[in-house]
Amino acid sequence: MKTELASKLRDYLKPETLKVLKEAADIADREQIALFLVGGIVRDLLLERSSLDIDIVIVGDALSVADRLASVLNTKVASRSKFGTAKMKYSWLTIDLVTARRETYSSPGALPTVYPGNIRDDLFRRDFTVNAMAVQLNAGKFGSLVDPYHGLDDLNKGLIRILHDRSFIDDSTRILRAIRYEQRLGFRIETKTSINLRKNISMIGTVSPDRIKHELMLFFEEPLPEKAFHRADKLGVLARIHPQFHGDAWLSKHFQKARRVFPGHCGLLYLCLLIYRFTNNENRELLRRFNFTRTETTAMTQTLSLKSEIASGFHAGMSPVEIHRRLKQFVPVAIYSNLAAAAPGKLKQDLELYLSKLSHIKTSITGDDIVAMGISPGPKVRKYLEIILEGRLSGSIRSRKDEELFIRKLAK
Ligand code: CTP
Repeated sequence: MKTELASKLRDYLKPETLKVLKEAADIADREQIALFLVGGIVRDLLLERSSLDIDIVIVGDALSVADRLASVLNTKVASRSKFGTAKMKYSWLTIDLVTARRETYSSPGALPTVYPGNIRDDLFRRDFTVNAMAVQLNAGKFGSLVDPYHGLDDLNKGLIRILHDRSFIDDSTRILRAIRYEQRLGFRIETKTSINLRKNISMIGTVSPDRIKHELMLFFEEPLPEKAFHRADKLGVLARIHPQFHGDAWLSKHFQKARRVFPGHCGLLYLCLLIYRFTNNENRELLRRFNFTRTETTAMTQTLSLKSEIASGFHAGMSPVEIHRRLKQFVPVAIYSNLAAAAPGKLKQDLELYLSKLSHIKTSITGDDIVAMGISPGPKVRKYLEIILEGRLSGSIRSRKDEELFIRKLAK
């Protein structure tokens, strides 16, 4: 395994990642302390999948290694904690360095009490066997796998397995994490783990809203989040978080549609679709319970107001000017969520027309240009700009020259 892993490290990791690992190992070698790569990156390396984060465990003072590493990489330690952990960015990579530790939990959902430990202790505090493997990076031991809980076996069998019976009680976000890894990797939650998970579903209630929200947002980062939502629904986990969250066929269909209609990363759009079937009151209650950002709050609230605006005010045969007037106050993601949820037809075409064309139409002339033409500054300038924009939208104004002529006519 040692030589095989050493060559995997060299073959599968990007040059930037390898540079970080080499520099970190050099520092550790000089200090004569053991340094390991752990967690997701080891799992992904063994699966020959790419990974964006580097997690390093140091059996010694991680903070002093972090300071030295940041200085060789010409970056800064972005954060450090009293548990002996440090975080930094290098190029596109996020690097976490932690001091090997042992953890005990005083009560479910509480933060753990931390003691210094060895690498086995550090792996034992982790969520699943496939995430509880380490690869040593020190010279002479470079590439040796530390796998006390048989993660490699589970990786080969495609199983998500907890390390001990209290795992989901100690940290119930692991219930959501188990689902996310299972669905992402096409694995299966191992039978005893699955029984234990079902038994402890109510423990989700011990997790703070911030941590629940964080885990839900991680679902949205998956290539096919509908699979995780479906599984969470079937297990009864989703209803524990909110009785109106459904990982059903509707959600799957509309997440798939979202990926077809939206050109970028769909995270926020998925969130809007998750609450699309909410009433305004249900949405308000959700916003009160979880700490959504301002952007998320606007996107969710506007999704629902556009949905009711469409139901009550939109009609067949609207002109481009009217479509623009009705949609201009909405953020694009609220329009995309309604587009993804809309039935095919004229209305859908109106939303598409707005997103693809009308929202990009601008006047060439500015307010300053209008003032320079001799119009006194004030509300009139804004009115003229609106009229010119409507002319552009309807096609009656096509050029800068047309705009100027029109303003002269208006000003007479
Ligand atoms: N971990 C854990 N329990 C948690 C969160 C994290 O045991 N509730 C451990 C796992 O060993 C995990 C590592 O911390 O592998 C890093 O956590 P994270 O970055 O969230 O996960 P990754 O495994 O890197 O997974 P992903 O590919 O989703 O980033």
